[in-house]
Amino acid sequence: MPSTVVVGMQWGDEGKGKFTDLLAAEMDYVVRYQGGHNAGHTIVIGEERFALQLVPTGVLNGQVTPIIGNGVVVDPKVLLDELDVLSARGIDVSRVKLSGSAHLIMPYHQELDRLTERFLGRNRLGTTKRGIGPAYADKASRIGIRVQDLLDPKIFRVKLEAVLKEKNQILAKVYNRLPLDEEEILHDYLEVYAPRLAPLIADTVGIVQDAYARQERILLEGAQATFLDLDHGTYPYVTSSNPTAGGAATGSGLGPRQIDSVLGIAKAYLTRVGAGPFPTELFGELADELVERGHEFGTNTGRKRRTGWFDLVLLRHAVDINSVSELALTKLDILDHAKEICVATSYEIDGERIERLPYHQSDFFKARPIYQTFPGWEQDISNVTKAADLPRNARAYLEFLEEKAGVPIRLVGTGPERDQYVRL
Ligand code: GDP
Ligand code: IMO
Ligand code: MG
Repeated sequence: MPSTVVVGMQWGDEGKGKFTDLLAAEMDYVVRYQGGHNAGHTIVIGEERFALQLVPTGVLNGQVTPIIGNGVVVDPKVLLDELDVLSARGIDVSRVKLSGSAHLIMPYHQELDRLTERFLGRNRLGTTKRGIGPAYADKASRIGIRVQDLLDPKIFRVKLEAVLKEKNQILAKVYNRLPLDEEEILHDYLEVYAPRLAPLIADTVGIVQDAYARQERILLEGAQATFLDLDHGTYPYVTSSNPTAGGAATGSGLGPRQIDSVLGIAKAYLTRVGAGPFPTELFGELADELVERGHEFGTNTGRKRRTGWFDLVLLRHAVDINSVSELALTKLDILDHAKEICVATSYEIDGERIERLPYHQSDFFKARPIYQTFPGWEQDISNVTKAADLPRNARAYLEFLEEKAGVPIRLVGTGPERDQYVRL
């Protein structure tokens, strides 16, 4: 299969990084197609732990060309710091390419993200405060500044001057903040970041199209997840891009018919960071146990993740709208100690049983999960490498999920390390 999309089936942090890394061993290109440094993708290789934000996970595989696609929003300082840290750890970052059409995160985006959240008060979304929403908003408003503008100081200056005039009015008059200094931004972006980024900037659409024509293998690495998708997620508690598989085409420049398969990544239970509906959310002892056993703290912001039981209503929807061809189920080992495991098979909303995801957010908030319960296996599976060696109850859990999902589960995560997985 020359091109595959990796996409999160839930609310993020499913373990996309780990399985992207595994698949990257057989790839020529790994392309990030959306999001920005709101992502945190963790890869554990022996004693080494990498938490990647902007650089595609493929960077850890020697033969891969990692590409930051046109759909990504890029904070240049974060990207340069990440490349420096990787270099210092002995990773070759010389092949990384950055789309000239990707949009830049500017200092006012980050500031406005923080201020909007503060003004929303109790209604805040719980964003990562990285400037993601404001940067995508400017892209849609056609006042964004793109990576390619770094290569033309005259254009950069004209665009910044125009947009900063408005942003500074908003900062001063709406939020009572000090205006941002234009010369300082010009200096940072044009004199510090531009010369270092220039060698990376490329026509990445041309690169992936040429690669596809040569039948080279391309992996499209999603950040965030289906239910954080701007269109398909639990709006407004979403991110501002399209992590769903359709976004992989828009954000990379591969056409929809050039995508051959879609690997959905789902965690064996659920987590969510930030606000928004979560029908199977757990509280109290069970929740604490999942947080502790699963180390459920944000890779990126350090925030404690909300936890809950697996939700098949979400999964079925995610399988459909992403055209998922197969699934990877991660963190099965975290359930090793559970006596009983619950899976939501449908919801009850106002006394009615619902199998399909409710489209109305009020219904989503009211949805009460209807569970099917499975006996746990109560044994350590972190060393299991063959399907036949999985405990019977674990296999029964997997078979049930697979049957209800309607697509095969091909990979199962049994620990954070690169080789802790089972192929089914
Ligand atoms: P991503 O954003 O989808 O790439 O996921 P994150 O890296 O933010 O969070 C997933 C966490 O789970 C990371 O700490 C991974 O190292 C870890 N992880 C991934 N797969 C497994 C697994 O199968 N078992 C265990 N115990 N940990 C895993
Ligand atoms: P990875 O790629 C989990 C969440 C934030 C917030 C909402 C909007 O590691 O799975 P944003 O800063 O994007 O405007 O925040 O989205 N969020 C994530 N949650 N994993 C992520 O990325 C996330 N990226 C954003 O917590 O609720
Ligand atoms: Mg993450």
